[in-house]
Amino acid sequence: MSGTAALSVEGACVALGGRSVLREVTFGLEPGEFCALIGSNGSGKTTLLRAILGFLPLAAGRIRLNGVVGAPGPIGYVPQKIALDPALPLRARDVVTLGLDGARLGLSWPSKARRIEVDRMLRAVGADGFAEQRIGLLSGGQQQRVLVAHALVRRPKLLLLDEPLANLDVRSSAEIVALLRRLSREYGAAVLLSAHDMNPLLSAMDRIVYLANGAAVAGRPEEVVRTEVLSSLYGYHVDVVRVHGRVVVVAAEAGEQIHEAVARDPVHTASVP
Ligand SMILES: Nc1ncnc2c1ncn2[C@@H]1O[C@H](COP(=O)(O)OP(=O)(O)O)[C@@H](O)[C@H]1O
Ligand SMILES: [Mg+2]
Repeated sequence: MSGTAALSVEGACVALGGRSVLREVTFGLEPGEFCALIGSNGSGKTTLLRAILGFLPLAAGRIRLNGVVGAPGPIGYVPQKIALDPALPLRARDVVTLGLDGARLGLSWPSKARRIEVDRMLRAVGADGFAEQRIGLLSGGQQQRVLVAHALVRRPKLLLLDEPLANLDVRSSAEIVALLRRLSREYGAAVLLSAHDMNPLLSAMDRIVYLANGAAVAGRPEEVVRTEVLSSLYGYHVDVVRVHGRVVVVAAEAGEQIHEAVARDPVHTASVP
Protein backbone atom coordinates (compact mmCIF):
# COMPACT_ATOMS: atom_id res chain seq x y z
CA MET A 1 0.00 0.00 0.00
CA SER A 2 1.35 3.42 -0.88
CA GLY A 3 2.23 5.90 1.86
CA THR A 4 -0.37 8.35 0.55
CA ALA A 5 -3.39 6.09 0.94
CA ALA A 6 -6.19 7.80 2.89
CA LEU A 7 -6.47 4.62 4.96
CA SER A 8 -4.18 1.65 5.18
CA VAL A 9 -5.12 -1.31 7.39
CA GLU A 10 -2.28 -3.81 7.56
CA GLY A 11 -2.74 -7.19 9.22
CA ALA A 12 -4.97 -5.70 11.92
CA CYS A 13 -5.91 -8.07 14.74
CA VAL A 14 -8.30 -7.14 17.56
CA ALA A 15 -9.19 -9.21 20.62
CA LEU A 16 -12.14 -8.37 22.88
CA GLY A 17 -12.81 -10.08 26.20
CA GLY A 18 -10.02 -12.54 25.47
CA ARG A 19 -11.58 -13.52 22.15
CA SER A 20 -10.11 -12.87 18.72
CA VAL A 21 -12.64 -10.67 16.88
CA LEU A 22 -10.60 -9.44 13.90
CA ARG A 23 -7.88 -11.54 12.32
CA GLU A 24 -5.26 -10.06 10.01
CA VAL A 25 -7.54 -7.62 8.24
CA THR A 26 -5.74 -5.90 5.37
CA PHE A 27 -7.03 -3.32 2.90
CA GLY A 28 -6.42 0.23 1.74
CA LEU A 29 -8.48 3.16 0.55
CA GLU A 30 -7.44 5.99 -1.71
CA PRO A 31 -8.81 9.54 -1.37
CA GLY A 32 -12.27 9.83 -2.93
CA GLU A 33 -12.90 6.07 -2.91
CA PHE A 34 -16.24 4.71 -1.80
CA CYS A 35 -15.93 1.38 -0.02
CA ALA A 36 -18.59 -0.94 1.41
CA LEU A 37 -17.79 -2.92 4.56
CA ILE A 38 -20.09 -5.93 4.29
CA GLY A 39 -20.75 -8.68 6.83
CA SER A 40 -23.55 -10.26 8.86
CA ASN A 41 -24.27 -9.36 12.48
CA GLY A 42 -21.32 -10.13 14.71
CA SER A 43 -18.82 -10.37 11.83
CA GLY A 44 -16.75 -7.49 13.24
CA LYS A 45 -17.83 -4.38 11.26
CA THR A 46 -18.27 -2.07 14.25
CA THR A 47 -15.09 -3.43 15.83
CA LEU A 48 -13.11 -2.62 12.69
CA LEU A 49 -14.50 0.93 12.52
CA ARG A 50 -13.72 1.50 16.20
CA ALA A 51 -10.19 0.22 15.69
CA ILE A 52 -9.70 2.65 12.78
CA LEU A 53 -10.96 5.47 15.03
CA GLY A 54 -8.34 4.48 17.60
CA PHE A 55 -10.92 3.51 20.25
CA LEU A 56 -9.71 -0.11 20.35
CA PRO A 57 -6.08 -1.23 20.54
CA LEU A 58 -4.67 -3.61 17.94
CA ALA A 59 -3.28 -6.93 19.16
CA ALA A 60 -1.15 -6.97 15.99
CA GLY A 61 -0.76 -5.08 12.74
CA ARG A 62 -1.11 -1.35 12.16
CA ILE A 63 -3.51 1.23 10.79
CA ARG A 64 -2.26 4.32 9.00
CA LEU A 65 -4.20 7.41 7.98
CA ASN A 66 -2.65 9.47 5.21
CA GLY A 67 0.47 7.38 5.72
CA VAL A 68 0.72 8.08 9.45
CA VAL A 69 0.02 5.79 12.42
CA GLY A 70 -2.34 7.61 14.80
CA ALA A 71 -4.92 10.00 13.40
CA PRO A 72 -3.16 13.00 11.80
CA GLY A 73 -6.44 14.84 11.29
CA PRO A 74 -10.16 14.54 11.93
CA ILE A 75 -12.01 11.36 11.01
CA GLY A 76 -15.70 11.75 10.22
CA TYR A 77 -17.84 9.17 12.01
CA VAL A 78 -21.54 8.35 11.93
CA PRO A 79 -22.13 5.70 14.61
CA GLN A 80 -24.64 2.87 14.42
CA LYS A 81 -28.23 3.49 15.60
CA ILE A 82 -28.41 6.88 17.22
CA ALA A 83 -31.75 7.23 19.01
CA LEU A 84 -32.71 10.90 18.86
CA ASP A 85 -35.53 11.80 21.21
CA PRO A 86 -38.13 14.14 19.66
CA ALA A 87 -37.85 16.35 22.75
CA LEU A 88 -34.10 16.86 22.35
CA PRO A 89 -33.74 20.64 22.06
CA LEU A 90 -31.24 20.57 19.20
CA ARG A 91 -31.99 21.78 15.71
CA ALA A 92 -30.41 20.13 12.67
CA ARG A 93 -28.23 23.22 12.40
CA ASP A 94 -26.98 22.81 15.99
CA VAL A 95 -25.92 19.21 15.34
CA VAL A 96 -23.78 20.32 12.40
CA THR A 97 -22.30 23.21 14.45
CA LEU A 98 -21.34 20.72 17.17
CA GLY A 99 -19.42 18.79 14.53
CA LEU A 100 -17.47 21.91 13.66
CA ASP A 101 -16.57 22.62 17.28
CA GLY A 102 -15.19 19.09 17.46
CA ALA A 103 -13.54 18.05 20.69
CA ARG A 104 -13.38 21.57 22.11
CA LEU A 105 -15.13 21.84 25.44
CA GLY A 106 -17.31 24.68 26.64
CA LEU A 107 -19.49 27.14 24.82
CA SER A 108 -18.24 29.21 21.98
CA TRP A 109 -20.21 32.10 20.56
CA PRO A 110 -21.49 31.78 17.02
CA SER A 111 -19.29 33.58 14.58
CA LYS A 112 -20.09 34.56 11.04
CA ALA A 113 -17.46 32.21 9.63
CA ARG A 114 -18.89 29.29 11.59
CA ARG A 115 -22.39 30.03 10.35
CA ILE A 116 -21.26 30.26 6.73
CA GLU A 117 -19.48 26.92 7.01
CA VAL A 118 -22.49 25.24 8.65
CA ASP A 119 -24.86 26.67 6.01
CA ARG A 120 -22.59 25.42 3.26
CA MET A 121 -22.56 21.91 4.72
CA LEU A 122 -26.34 21.88 5.29
CA ARG A 123 -26.79 22.74 1.60
CA ALA A 124 -24.23 20.14 0.50
CA VAL A 125 -26.28 17.34 2.10
CA GLY A 126 -29.66 18.77 1.08
CA ALA A 127 -30.64 19.61 4.67
CA ASP A 128 -31.07 23.37 4.23
CA GLY A 129 -34.86 22.96 4.02
CA PHE A 130 -35.11 21.58 7.58
CA ALA A 131 -32.09 23.22 9.21
CA GLU A 132 -34.19 24.93 11.90
CA GLN A 133 -36.21 21.83 12.86
CA ARG A 134 -35.54 19.65 15.88
CA ILE A 135 -33.33 16.71 14.94
CA GLY A 136 -35.56 14.20 16.76
CA LEU A 137 -38.61 15.19 14.71
CA LEU A 138 -36.96 14.53 11.33
CA SER A 139 -37.39 11.35 9.28
CA GLY A 140 -34.66 8.70 9.32
CA GLY A 141 -33.35 9.83 5.93
CA GLN A 142 -33.32 13.49 6.99
CA GLN A 143 -31.49 12.62 10.22
CA GLN A 144 -28.86 10.70 8.26
CA ARG A 145 -28.26 13.76 6.06
CA VAL A 146 -27.72 15.89 9.17
CA LEU A 147 -25.40 13.30 10.73
CA VAL A 148 -23.38 13.14 7.50
CA ALA A 149 -23.07 16.95 7.59
CA HIS A 150 -22.01 16.74 11.26
CA ALA A 151 -19.31 14.21 10.33
CA LEU A 152 -18.07 16.08 7.25
CA VAL A 153 -18.07 19.67 8.45
CA ARG A 154 -14.44 19.55 9.57
CA ARG A 155 -13.50 18.25 6.11
CA PRO A 156 -12.02 14.90 7.16
CA LYS A 157 -10.17 12.86 4.55
CA LEU A 158 -11.83 9.73 5.91
CA LEU A 159 -15.54 9.25 6.63
CA LEU A 160 -16.73 6.14 8.49
CA LEU A 161 -20.42 5.27 8.67
CA ASP A 162 -21.72 2.31 10.68
CA GLU A 163 -24.88 0.83 9.11
CA PRO A 164 -26.33 4.19 8.05
CA LEU A 165 -28.89 2.43 5.83
CA ALA A 166 -30.19 0.06 8.51
CA ASN A 167 -33.42 1.91 9.31
CA LEU A 168 -34.10 3.55 5.95
CA ASP A 169 -36.66 2.65 3.30
CA VAL A 170 -35.42 1.73 -0.18
CA ARG A 171 -35.79 5.24 -1.57
CA SER A 172 -34.08 7.09 1.32
CA SER A 173 -31.36 4.47 1.28
CA ALA A 174 -30.67 5.07 -2.44
CA GLU A 175 -30.62 8.84 -1.84
CA ILE A 176 -28.11 8.58 1.01
CA VAL A 177 -25.86 6.30 -1.04
CA ALA A 178 -25.94 8.72 -4.00
CA LEU A 179 -25.24 11.65 -1.67
CA LEU A 180 -22.24 9.93 -0.07
CA ARG A 181 -20.94 8.89 -3.46
CA ARG A 182 -21.05 12.50 -4.67
CA LEU A 183 -19.55 13.96 -1.48
CA SER A 184 -16.67 11.48 -1.47
CA ARG A 185 -15.70 12.77 -4.93
CA GLU A 186 -16.30 16.46 -4.16
CA TYR A 187 -14.38 16.47 -0.89
CA GLY A 188 -11.78 13.88 -1.91
CA ALA A 189 -12.72 11.90 1.20
CA ALA A 190 -12.47 8.12 1.37
CA VAL A 191 -15.79 6.70 2.56
CA LEU A 192 -16.06 3.39 4.43
CA LEU A 193 -19.68 2.40 5.00
CA SER A 194 -20.77 -0.74 6.81
CA ALA A 195 -23.89 -2.68 5.87
CA HIS A 196 -25.22 -6.21 6.16
CA ASP A 197 -26.76 -6.04 2.66
CA MET A 198 -24.54 -5.03 -0.24
CA ASN A 199 -27.42 -4.61 -2.71
CA PRO A 200 -28.16 -0.91 -2.11
CA LEU A 201 -24.42 -0.26 -2.66
CA LEU A 202 -23.82 -2.32 -5.79
CA SER A 203 -23.84 0.58 -8.24
CA ALA A 204 -21.90 2.94 -5.97
CA MET A 205 -19.00 1.03 -4.45
CA ASP A 206 -15.48 1.23 -5.86
CA ARG A 207 -14.25 -1.35 -3.38
CA ILE A 208 -15.62 -3.86 -0.92
CA VAL A 209 -14.28 -5.27 2.32
CA TYR A 210 -16.19 -8.46 3.05
CA LEU A 211 -16.00 -9.71 6.65
CA ALA A 212 -16.90 -13.17 7.91
CA ASN A 213 -16.01 -14.34 11.40
CA GLY A 214 -13.45 -11.58 11.79
CA ALA A 215 -11.52 -12.39 8.61
CA ALA A 216 -11.70 -10.14 5.58
CA VAL A 217 -11.26 -10.23 1.86
CA ALA A 218 -10.97 -6.88 0.08
CA GLY A 219 -10.80 -5.62 -3.45
CA ARG A 220 -12.94 -4.50 -6.33
CA PRO A 221 -16.48 -5.92 -6.10
CA GLU A 222 -16.05 -8.16 -9.16
CA GLU A 223 -12.90 -9.64 -7.60
CA VAL A 224 -14.44 -10.27 -4.18
CA VAL A 225 -18.10 -11.15 -4.71
CA ARG A 226 -17.40 -14.56 -6.25
CA THR A 227 -18.37 -18.06 -5.21
CA GLU A 228 -14.78 -19.31 -4.85
CA VAL A 229 -13.49 -16.21 -3.02
CA LEU A 230 -16.32 -16.06 -0.46
CA SER A 231 -16.35 -19.85 0.02
CA SER A 232 -12.69 -19.63 0.89
CA LEU A 233 -13.38 -16.78 3.34
CA TYR A 234 -16.24 -18.61 5.07
CA GLY A 235 -14.37 -21.90 5.09
CA TYR A 236 -17.34 -23.75 3.58
CA HIS A 237 -19.18 -23.63 0.31
CA VAL A 238 -21.40 -20.63 -0.37
CA ASP A 239 -22.94 -19.70 -3.70
CA VAL A 240 -22.95 -16.15 -5.02
CA VAL A 241 -26.20 -15.95 -6.94
CA ARG A 242 -27.28 -13.02 -9.10
CA VAL A 243 -31.02 -12.78 -9.48
CA HIS A 244 -33.18 -9.86 -10.70
CA GLY A 245 -30.17 -7.52 -10.47
CA ARG A 246 -29.51 -8.49 -6.86
CA VAL A 247 -26.69 -10.46 -5.31
CA VAL A 248 -27.53 -13.22 -2.85
CA VAL A 249 -24.91 -15.15 -0.90
CA VAL A 250 -26.30 -18.54 0.08
CA ALA A 251 -24.85 -21.31 2.21
CA ALA A 252 -25.54 -24.37 0.06
CA GLU A 253 -26.11 -27.00 2.75
CA ALA A 254 -28.13 -25.05 5.27
CA GLY A 255 -31.64 -26.08 4.27
CA GLU A 256 -35.02 -24.53 4.97
CA GLN A 257 -34.03 -22.06 7.66
CA ILE A 258 -31.58 -20.35 5.36
CA HIS A 259 -34.22 -19.87 2.68
CA GLU A 260 -36.39 -18.02 5.18
CA ALA A 261 -33.42 -15.92 6.17
CA VAL A 262 -32.70 -15.12 2.53
CA ALA A 263 -36.27 -13.94 2.05
CA ARG A 264 -35.82 -11.48 4.93
CA ASP A 265 -32.24 -10.55 4.20
CA PRO A 266 -31.02 -11.11 0.65
CA VAL A 267 -27.35 -11.20 1.57
CA HIS A 268 -27.35 -14.16 3.83
CA THR A 269 -24.01 -14.54 5.50
CA ALA A 270 -24.51 -17.31 8.04
CA SER A 271 -21.59 -17.80 10.36
CA VAL A 272 -22.37 -21.50 10.82
CA PRO A 273 -22.63 -23.90 7.85
N1 LIG B 1 -16.70 -5.66 24.35
C1 LIG B 1 -16.73 -6.88 23.79
N2 LIG B 1 -16.25 -7.96 24.44
C2 LIG B 1 -16.28 -9.19 23.86
N3 LIG B 1 -16.75 -9.43 22.63
C3 LIG B 1 -17.24 -8.40 21.94
C4 LIG B 1 -17.27 -7.06 22.46
N4 LIG B 1 -17.81 -6.25 21.54
C5 LIG B 1 -18.12 -7.03 20.47
N5 LIG B 1 -17.78 -8.31 20.72
C6 LIG B 1 -17.93 -9.45 19.79
O1 LIG B 1 -17.19 -9.18 18.63
C7 LIG B 1 -17.85 -9.68 17.50
C8 LIG B 1 -17.98 -8.60 16.46
O2 LIG B 1 -18.89 -7.62 16.93
P1 LIG B 1 -19.22 -6.33 16.08
O3 LIG B 1 -17.96 -5.69 15.67
O4 LIG B 1 -20.17 -5.52 16.88
O5 LIG B 1 -19.94 -6.95 14.80
P2 LIG B 1 -20.91 -6.25 13.74
O6 LIG B 1 -20.76 -4.78 13.89
O7 LIG B 1 -20.43 -6.78 12.42
O8 LIG B 1 -22.29 -6.74 14.04
C9 LIG B 1 -19.17 -10.25 17.97
O9 LIG B 1 -19.04 -11.64 18.08
C10 LIG B 1 -19.36 -9.61 19.32
O10 LIG B 1 -20.08 -10.46 20.17
MG1 LIG C 1 -22.16 -3.30 14.22
